[in-house]
Parts: sequence; structure tokens; C-alpha cells
Amino acid sequence: MSEKTRIQARTYCGNVSRSLLNSPVLLQGWVDTVRDHGHLLFAHIRDISGLVQVVFDPETDAATYALAQSLRSEFVVAIHGTVIARTPENVNPHIPNGDIEVAVTHLDLLSKAKTPPFMISEKDIVNASEADTDPIAENQDSTNSKQAAAGKVDEDIRLRYRYLDIRRPSIQKNLIARSKMARAMREVLYTHDFHEVETPVLTKSTPEGARDYLVPSRVHEGKFYALPQSPQLFKQLLMIGGMDRYFQIVKCFRDEDLRPNRQPEFTQLDMELSFVDEETIYKLIEELLESVFKVAGHTLTGPFPRITYDEAMESYGSDAPDLRPGMPLTEVTDLLPNSGYKIFNMIVEKGGCIKAICLKNQADVLSKNVLQNEFAMKTIQKMGGKGLTWMKYEDNEFQSNIVQFFTPEELGAIKDRLGIENGDVLFMVADTNRRTVNEVLGRFRVFIAERQGLLKSNVFAPCWVTDFPLFELKDGAIHSMHHPFTQPNGPLPEAGDSAGLLALKARAYDVVVNGQELGGGSIRIHDSATQHKVFELLGLSQDDIKQKFGFFQTAFQYGAPPHGGLALGLDRLVAMALETESIREVIPFPKNRAAICPLTEAPSEVGSDQLTELHLKLTPRPEV
Ligand code: AMO
Repeated sequence: MSEKTRIQARTYCGNVSRSLLNSPVLLQGWVDTVRDHGHLLFAHIRDISGLVQVVFDPETDAATYALAQSLRSEFVVAIHGTVIARTPENVNPHIPNGDIEVAVTHLDLLSKAKTPPFMISEKDIVNASEADTDPIAENQDSTNSKQAAAGKVDEDIRLRYRYLDIRRPSIQKNLIARSKMARAMREVLYTHDFHEVETPVLTKSTPEGARDYLVPSRVHEGKFYALPQSPQLFKQLLMIGGMDRYFQIVKCFRDEDLRPNRQPEFTQLDMELSFVDEETIYKLIEELLESVFKVAGHTLTGPFPRITYDEAMESYGSDAPDLRPGMPLTEVTDLLPNSGYKIFNMIVEKGGCIKAICLKNQADVLSKNVLQNEFAMKTIQKMGGKGLTWMKYEDNEFQSNIVQFFTPEELGAIKDRLGIENGDVLFMVADTNRRTVNEVLGRFRVFIAERQGLLKSNVFAPCWVTDFPLFELKDGAIHSMHHPFTQPNGPLPEAGDSAGLLALKARAYDVVVNGQELGGGSIRIHDSATQHKVFELLGLSQDDIKQKFGFFQTAFQYGAPPHGGLALGLDRLVAMALETESIREVIPFPKNRAAICPLTEAPSEVGSDQLTELHLKLTPRPEV
């Protein structure tokens, strides 16, 4: 770097504007694109703030011009020059500083760069039709650039060169927005007297329903730390410690099957409050979410609607309902006690259930062929259903391949209950198992809403799901639906009373937006006898309880305040507010779908010395 570059104050590319006309500037950044016009050489310089066009003229300085001719995309440069107005034919109205450029007087080449594995410049995406007027854009391979900008490059390549991917303005924008959102949340929390407190990463297992990542101890042979699945135990201990209101933006680690909105290592905005009830928490979270969405330019307005778990399952077939399309699942079993439609009749006789949804105004775009041969014959089976019954309502009558099996009275009653009008399509699912009906029609509801474009990405429909069951049955055993520290909403039944246990509700709540669980929490158990009994009901032996939770149980004997809290999944929240396709777009260095980091190639093998030091021995995988 030349002396000249070291002493002059830097101007960010995005800040160069008409107000600096005739002023000297120093730009520091990357060459976005270059175009040699023979007599003049144009380049776009990019830094975190944006782009600006610079122009090299051999008549200003032949040596600088010669050096500029060696510039390639992604070279790092310092440029001294003067802001000048562009000639009228070169003005680009599509970018903020398209009316000026920087006439270069001096160039420092700070770093050369190999040709990147994918196009980093997003200029012709960002600047829409700039390509029409910009001298540089003509020279770019815009197809390639568009692919990169749209994230069409193979994701593993993007992740292997994540530092280059991050250099793309769209990823930088996501990370900057994430930082602003975290700041907005911190501001809300500080206003409400929260303190940010760190909790350990090398710790003991915290049950959140996933497998633990373990860290072997070198010093204590045969012993392991667990990475926290959440700071749950520590935040409760902080309440016992009198910290009153805690929060933390914290990494959590869960070894579980990956899904598009899951990462093995993810971030929570975790919080806990003493002497609190559900209402205070709902209000606070609504304020937090409003502040985050505001950063992305969206308005969320509380209070959010509340739905009990039972209602959510009955009306949407999911405990994370997407409320955008409306179309609740509506029971029609009682309207068809003895219909002429054999399958329905058989199901009703066996005590089964029939539910329906009404898709508004789509009868003309859904052909009978699609309804029957695609949805009823294929789609519904993929969703776990046995069949789908459909009817269009057009010209004041139902039309379908099975309409003749229903009486006008039955059809009239269904029409009234679902509010069906001309142009609507009715879908019905029946099964002897009520849960199957809810799940299958629930999935179909989301599928058809998505297919027909009813899930608008810039519309946000938040809700609280409340009154979850405390326990659920999994593989024949009782498990906590949230975690074992959740307060029951009534007295605990005895161990043998499985019906009573499964009917018991919890003081637990999830905050859901557009069908995604963004956060979950509960009011906690704060007396040690109840906590002990919950551990027992979950099948833990006295030894297990002592070994896993002894320290926690002891703490509760020293004055535990009533307390409760919630954790928001920060990655999911940011991805939703920014409307990105995946949470990986808002995580600086995510793992891929196979839980691998293509950049560092973690997880990787370690040397035998290290294994010996950790008292570990690898055994070959047993043959299957
Ligand atoms: P829970 O397990 O519901 O609650 O987690 C809270 C939120 O964290 C997000 N989340 C994830 N995000 C990305 N990848 C994952 N693998 C992942 N797992 C969870 C979700 C979820 O809603 N200790 C309790 C909170 C409490 O009770 O206060 C807990 O961790 O958005």
C-alpha cells in the first residue's frame, strides 16, 4: 500500500455521490467488473456499501493506465481520483450513483485474485436494466452472473468458497440484516431490564429431544462433556441465582436428522424471566418479533391470535399451522350419518371421521383430470391418505365423479357449513383414524395452497399455539412434548394412568409464523417434588435422576422463584423476515444437508496420537 493510500481518508463506494463532485476520494475494495474501451478503461469498484464506476484515462497517467490494464475481477485495489459527472450518454438512471464516476489519478494494486469458481458480481441483477446503458455490463456474461446471484450455483461449491459467496452483495445484505435484527432485539430486551449472561458450552447433557454432541475429556479418562442442546438448565439456575431477567444470543448443538430449516449448530435468542406469567411473555415476544420484522421492512402487529394445540390439530392438522390461506379443516361426519357413498358410510359406521376444506375461487383453473388423476390418485397417497373426494361448485351445483351418491340435503348442509360459493372446490378426506384425517388433509391443505399461489411470501401470519400436552407417547414410552422442566397445567396423575398422563396439558407455548415454529417456551416447574415426579414419570431411575439432574434438583431446594421463558430460533427468524429460501442463506458458515462443512471439511479424522491422548479407540463399523 502506498504512502498516499495510507494517509488519505477512505470513502465507501456506495457513498460516492453527486454531493462529492470535484472532490478527491480514496476508494478501497474489489474490482467488480472491468471493460477496456481501447482509449478509456472502465471498472466498477465494490465494497460493503455498494459499487461505483471509475475511469482510467491514459492521458492522465500512462503508467496508471498500463497497471489498470492488468486488473481482473476480484483484484483488491486502492484508487485515488476525483468525482466527476458522467457524460450524458453514460448516465445510468438505474443505480444511485449512476450520474457520476471517479476519474482515477492513482492506482494501488493491493492483491491479485484467481478467477473465482463462480461469478461474484451481482451488478446486473442489482441494477436491473443497467445492462442497457452501462459500458461495463455489455462485457459481462450475464447468464453466469444471474445464476450466481440467484444462488443457482451448486450449494456445496458456494459453501466450500464461502468467503467468496459472502463477498456477493446479496449474502452480505443478509448478514448485515441479521446483525441489525440482533441489535434491535437487544435494544428491546435492555429496555425491559434484561441482562445478557453467558452460559457454558462444555457442559452436561441438556435434554431437548436430540442426540448430544460429546467432547471427550483428556484429563478425566473416560469422561465426556456434552455441548448444550440449549442453555435450559443454566437459565433456570440463573433465575434461582436471582438474575431476574436473562437473555443470550447463543449457539445450541443438536445431533438430529437434518431438515431444510434445521442445522446441527444453530443460534437461539434465549430468555428467562422470574415471577412471570404467560401474558408477559407473549407481549414481550410480540414486541421482539415486531422489531425484527421492522428491520426487514415488514409490519407485524400484536396481539397475535392464539390457538390451542387441540384446535390447531383439529383445524389445521399441524401444531405449527400456516394461517395464510385460511381454509380450516371442517368436520362433516355428522352431516353424512348414512350417505349413499359406500366408503364414507363404512368409515362412519366404524366411528371414523370425515373432514373437508373449501378452496375459494379455483374451480375454473383446476381441471377434473388434475383433481382426479393427480390429486385423488397420486398426491393424497404420497401424503399418507387412502383417498380424496373432490367436488367443484359451479352454476349453483356440485360437480364431481361421485356427486350422485349424496342427497341434495346432504350437499346443501355441507355447502352451508363450509360457506361454499360458485367457483369453489371442496375436498374431503375420511378415515377410521381421526388423526390420519387431520394429518393428511392438513398436508393437502398446505400443498394446494402453495400450488395455487395462496402462500404469499411477503405476508406474515403469526400465532401462538398454547396448551400443548405435557407428555406424548413415542415408541410405547412416555416422553415430554417440550422438555421435562415444563409446568403441568394440573395435578400429575400416577404413573400407571397413561390416559390421564396423555390428557394432561402443559403451560407451554410456541410462536409460529407461516407454518414454521419460530420459538417455544413454557412456565417451568419450580418445586423440586413436582420436578422429581416428572422425572420418575418419564421412566428415569433414582440413580439416573441423581446422576443427570442431581445438581439441578439440589438448586431447587434453596428457594426457586416461579419462572418461565422462551427461545426463538434466530436463524429461522432472520430467514423468514428476509424471505430467504433456506436458513443457510442467513448463516455465515453453515453445514450442508449432510451436516458437513465443505469449507473446512469438518468433521474430519484425527491422528492416532490425539485419540490416544483422549483415551479413545476407534472400532471398525460392524458389517451389516
Ligand atoms: P426448542 O427446542 O423449541 O426450545 O428450540 C427453540 C427454537 O429453536 C429453533 N431450533 C432450531 N433452529 C435451527 N436448527 C435446529 N436444529 C433447531 N432446533 C430448534 C426453533 C425452535 O422453536 N430450551 C427450550 C426453550 C425454552 O423452553 O425456553 C428450547 O430449546 O425455532
